[in-house]
Amino acid sequence: MTESLTIRRPDDWHLHLRDGAMMETVLPETARHFGRAIIMPNLVPPVVTAADAAAYRDRIMAALPEGQAFEPLMTLYMTETTDPQDVRRAAESGLVKAVKLYPAGATTNSASGVRDFDKVRGVLEMMAEIGLPMCVHGEVTTPDVDIFDREAVFIETVLDPLRRNTPGLRVVMEHVTTADGVNYVKSQEDMGGTITTHHLIINRNHILVGGIKPHYYCLPVAKREVHRLALVEAATSGDAHFFLGTDSAPHPDHLKEHACGCAGVFSATNTMSCLAEVFEAEDALDRLEAFASLNGPTFYRLPVSDETITLTKGAPVDYPAKLEGGAGPVTVFDPGFPLHWRVDA
Ligand code: DOR
Ligand code: ZN
Repeated sequence: MTESLTIRRPDDWHLHLRDGAMMETVLPETARHFGRAIIMPNLVPPVVTAADAAAYRDRIMAALPEGQAFEPLMTLYMTETTDPQDVRRAAESGLVKAVKLYPAGATTNSASGVRDFDKVRGVLEMMAEIGLPMCVHGEVTTPDVDIFDREAVFIETVLDPLRRNTPGLRVVMEHVTTADGVNYVKSQEDMGGTITTHHLIINRNHILVGGIKPHYYCLPVAKREVHRLALVEAATSGDAHFFLGTDSAPHPDHLKEHACGCAGVFSATNTMSCLAEVFEAEDALDRLEAFASLNGPTFYRLPVSDETITLTKGAPVDYPAKLEGGAGPVTVFDPGFPLHWRVDA
């Protein structure tokens, strides 16, 4: 029986750090275990230009507690007026590692996203030319499509046509939540897919059965059990298409526990312990490193970490139920089972 597991330091390929007091509360939680993270640009206002990204990066570095080493990998928020030359400069200087595409209205702070994909053609072609990945929130926003079908419909009606029109474009389908998404990503070259910790653990019953659980509500919303099982199979298979993107997305409790609650699950604090349980249950602890530490850098063409972390199995680890802090309280993801794997970072 494995009681101790040492892996290369993991990275988080999809993270919301926010800004100001909230960032100060959540940044140490990620930096404690993770070496790098792809930082989502959906601030208010969004991180649109290279100058915005440089300023945001400086704010992150300034908020990083002394002694924590962490590298934020910056992204730009694609709008219909994004300037391809600004993106090119930001990528070539090393500042920006990806551009995020939010279909307008798909989720939190996505109002400036893309409505007319013809308007971003120039940006997409330039990204294909220089190999800069596009991260995509893969859901259609049309009101007549059922929320549980939005990912599958997006793949068929938006993503696949867009990729066919832009040969060479490298795409990360973010937070894959369906078997349809898994099958699509797995069958494509030049594609990666991130999977969140919480989508490996909850299905839609966890949100809706026995009373509504706002802290399990996120976008894309968790689907049926059969989809969760497809995600677990993809993540634990070792397949290089799939890597960890927690989508850890803090909101203060009063906005989650609300008549119109915000989407987002905050899992930065206990993600590695949760993942160890999921991989152990599948007898796949030997593939946790591929998912959390190797497949991501390989897709992004970055070196893997030369540091390690060790997970040790023992009595259940106590994580705080909430983070208190300037912008809190923020509820930490509750996987619904004890976490026996402690992280020695
Ligand atoms: O649940 C989510 N929360 N999904 C997203 O796509 C955005 C995120 C947020 O920013 O809160
Ligand atoms: Zn997100």
